Amino acid sequence: MQEKFPLDSLTVLTDLVLPGETNPLNNLFGGELLARIDRAASITARRHSRRICVTASVNHVAFNRAIPLGAVVTIEAKVSRTFTSSMEIVIDVWTEDRESGIKNSAGQAIYTFVAVDDTGNPVPVPPVVPQTDEDKKRFEAALRRKQLSLILAGKMKPADATELKALFAGE
Ligand SMILES: CC(C)(COP(=O)(O)OP(=O)(O)OC[C@H]1O[C@@H](n2cnc3c(N)ncnc32)[C@H](O)[C@@H]1OP(=O)(O)O)[C@@H](O)C(=O)NCCC(=O)NCCS
Repeated sequence: MQEKFPLDSLTVLTDLVLPGETNPLNNLFGGELLARIDRAASITARRHSRRICVTASVNHVAFNRAIPLGAVVTIEAKVSRTFTSSMEIVIDVWTEDRESGIKNSAGQAIYTFVAVDDTGNPVPVPPVVPQTDEDKKRFEAALRRKQLSLILAGKMKPADATELKALFAGE
């Protein structure tokens, strides 16, 4: 299958925080941010595979900075690694300073999507070739994250997670 680059399927969603999307502190409600993250990540998975894609697992979500009412929020979703039918998508959340325009990280999430056929059966996806240093680091770490996710889901025995175990072996 023809390989692709992370930039081929990069999805960037920029939107405002409006009244009705906030918590009692007037900051963006977490569930609203998760919905935006899921939408961006699923578009990236679809662009990479050109298939129907379903969320298989949410491996990590961190909200580092409250996002106030009226803020501009940008969500960038990029494929970090593919396996057979699954794709790891890393999502970075940014806000921008109203006056300077400087971007600040507000969070990060890591999702796994699976490409499926019309009957919901997993189908293969194209390999991804990491480009930047950051892409390469994320590619390298994605296998360990997949192993951890499968162990937590009861789909892999810890003894079989060779790369994940190697992280602790040197300590
Ligand atoms: C995701 C789903 C297709 C996986 O089906 P399955 O019968 O477990 O199929 P497989 O065991 O062949 O797994 C398919 C791939 O998913 C990966 N996978 C399954 N569960 C996973 C998990 N918890 N974490 C990471 N990867 C997972 C497998 O490792 C495999 O990857 P690979 O083909 O790249 O090696 C199926 O569980 C499903 O349809 N779930 C519901 C999805 C859904 O409705 N999401 C929310 C709305 S979009």
